[in-house]
Amino acid sequence: MPVIAVIGAQWGDEGKGKIIDLLAEKVNMVVRFSGGNNAGHTVVNPYGEFRMHLVPSGIFHRQVTCIVGNGVVIDPAALLEEIEQLEKRGVKVDKLYISDRAHLIMPYHILLDGLEEESRGSGALGTTRKGIGPCYMDKAGRLGIRSGDLLEKESFLDRLRLVLENKNRIITRVYEAQPLSLEEIYDKYCQYGERLAPFIRETDVMVQEAVERGETVLLEGAQGTMLDIDFGTYPYVTSTSASVGGACSGLGLSPVKIDHVIGVFKAYTTRVGSGPLPTELFDETGDLIRERAREYGTTTGRPRRCGWFDAVMGRFAARVNGLSGACLTRLDVLDVLPSLKVCTAYRLGGKTITSPPSNSSLLARCEPIYEELPGWQGDIDGLRRFEDLPAAARSYVRRLEELIACPMKLISVGPRREQKIVVEEIVN
Ligand code: IMP
Repeated sequence: MPVIAVIGAQWGDEGKGKIIDLLAEKVNMVVRFSGGNNAGHTVVNPYGEFRMHLVPSGIFHRQVTCIVGNGVVIDPAALLEEIEQLEKRGVKVDKLYISDRAHLIMPYHILLDGLEEESRGSGALGTTRKGIGPCYMDKAGRLGIRSGDLLEKESFLDRLRLVLENKNRIITRVYEAQPLSLEEIYDKYCQYGERLAPFIRETDVMVQEAVERGETVLLEGAQGTMLDIDFGTYPYVTSTSASVGGACSGLGLSPVKIDHVIGVFKAYTTRVGSGPLPTELFDETGDLIRERAREYGTTTGRPRRCGWFDAVMGRFAARVNGLSGACLTRLDVLDVLPSLKVCTAYRLGGKTITSPPSNSSLLARCEPIYEELPGWQGDIDGLRRFEDLPAAARSYVRRLEELIACPMKLISVGPRREQKIVVEEIVN
């Protein structure tokens, strides 16, 4: 039975939540390995519509064990709130576990995320201000506090005292803001610890044992490859490895155990926050896509920037992740457009280039070279077979597949579970 990683192949918001929810029907375990509650995975199913931030999107299937791995940063208040909301709506969380090695987002991370963004002025990154960057900074700087630390109250107090002294120095001296109280944070986090204790486990061992037993395990990526700390449009990225490499270090899983890597692409491009977006549309087509698809951030409500499909980025993401297959989401959003453009290369300084430059200011100067394809101008949201799609829609999909050099396995034509076209089964 396979281990399948599902990775965002653009700038996040590709529709991974729906894909995971669909695939989870036939799997034993779903594991999140990176990011935090900056993610917002939308799932629409018989329980209703959900915006998942930390809990894996497999939670709606009773047979699935859901794991929040060590690579995820956890805001305990956000996680407890999400668990409470799920329970209220009849979703069971008795098979949810969080890694004892997962780092915790602390109040000073959230405060510093905001203060750092303000201080960047016009160079702000447009972060979600959930404390993600500062938390990963502390993880790498060995100043982090992990979920397992909450279970040892005495040593937690010593650790928090040490870390908070350092943070309060930065908060007061660099940003001239009010210091945070040790007692308040300690009391609050001890309470969180008591509530989270039943969920905290050595999840790395759980994942390894599930793989050894031959179970089918889905690795749920967050954000997207173009937001990856190494391969994204640095510095306009998130602070973690959002590509498949993050799955190994974020779970304690060997790379040789991953059988398939599925990239999720939207049929067009969106981005939320700052940074270059070569195919961005500033005209009424961009507005039309945004309104038809309700392209507003799940976590922050910010309008998403919309553009044509960028196959230069697509090919790059396919290579970085070694994609063995792709899912194409929101194809139905393009139903009304008379013609569609796909970016096949960039023009930079008089030269044609076919892979994105690593430097963001160079990328911002890249002009997309487009290929134009006919639109299909008809509703496809009720169609369930590839051969029933209008010829122009099939040609569009086949052309994208060719350009990103990766076989298309699944096409999503609407938010509901049944609105899908299976080209080839991903999980048998
Ligand atoms: P951070 O992850 O909050 O530090 O934000 C860094 C960048 O990543 C910003 O441009 C955010 O808008 C973007 N970002 C973070 N999480 C997501 C996501 O789940 N979807 C889309 N963009 C995201």
